[in-house]
Amino acid sequence: MPNDRIAWAVDVLSPEASEEILEIGCGHGVAVTMVCDRLIDGRIVAVDRSATMIVAAKRRNAHHLVAGRAQFHTAELASADFGEACFDKAYALRVGAFARKDPTRELVVLARHLSPAGRLFLFHDEPAHSADNIARRLEAGVRRNAWTVEAVLTRRLDGCDVACVIALPPRPAAAAKR
Ligand SMILES: C[S@@+](CC[C@H](N)C(=O)[O-])C[C@H]1O[C@@H](n2cnc3c(N)ncnc32)[C@H](O)[C@@H]1O
Repeated sequence: MPNDRIAWAVDVLSPEASEEILEIGCGHGVAVTMVCDRLIDGRIVAVDRSATMIVAAKRRNAHHLVAGRAQFHTAELASADFGEACFDKAYALRVGAFARKDPTRELVVLARHLSPAGRLFLFHDEPAHSADNIARRLEAGVRRNAWTVEAVLTRRLDGCDVACVIALPPRPAAAAKR
């Protein structure tokens, strides 16, 4: 299946061998497979609010699941419980929560579970919307919640204008005072 959009996203994400990574809205788990192919002792946790998608993603990534490289949970991000997990990178592809409504609740969870040097990668595309338009909406959502936008990338792939916003979580108050 042609998937330049997802391959580009994983290239931008650049998973390193030992990283702890979170995917939000993994769907069938196509990106999870590409990320796992780059991990050695790292791990990816993938969530989707659809139990059907999680079953499909687990099936597709059965050997990564068995090897302990991938974990899957049926969960809506805003109410997900990641325990003590601390991720180096989190990413979402085509998850409307970040482009179409105020993602405050989702970003609170992500800020809690990203490492201090962690990054959030949001990739999105919508028919009939330019990548610039989508990037502006992604940026507005994170900036409104005091995240810092580090980079904005755009590409035309698989017939879609794709935008990517890379953002850093707000610094904890104690660290900011130092
Ligand atoms: C359009 S699909 C994209 C799937 C895949 N990421 C891709 O790009 O091909 C969006 C997926 O995100 C999931 N999703 C949407 N909002 C979510 C949320 N707030 N928390 C967890 N999963 C969510 C949906 O169930 C769906 O599987």
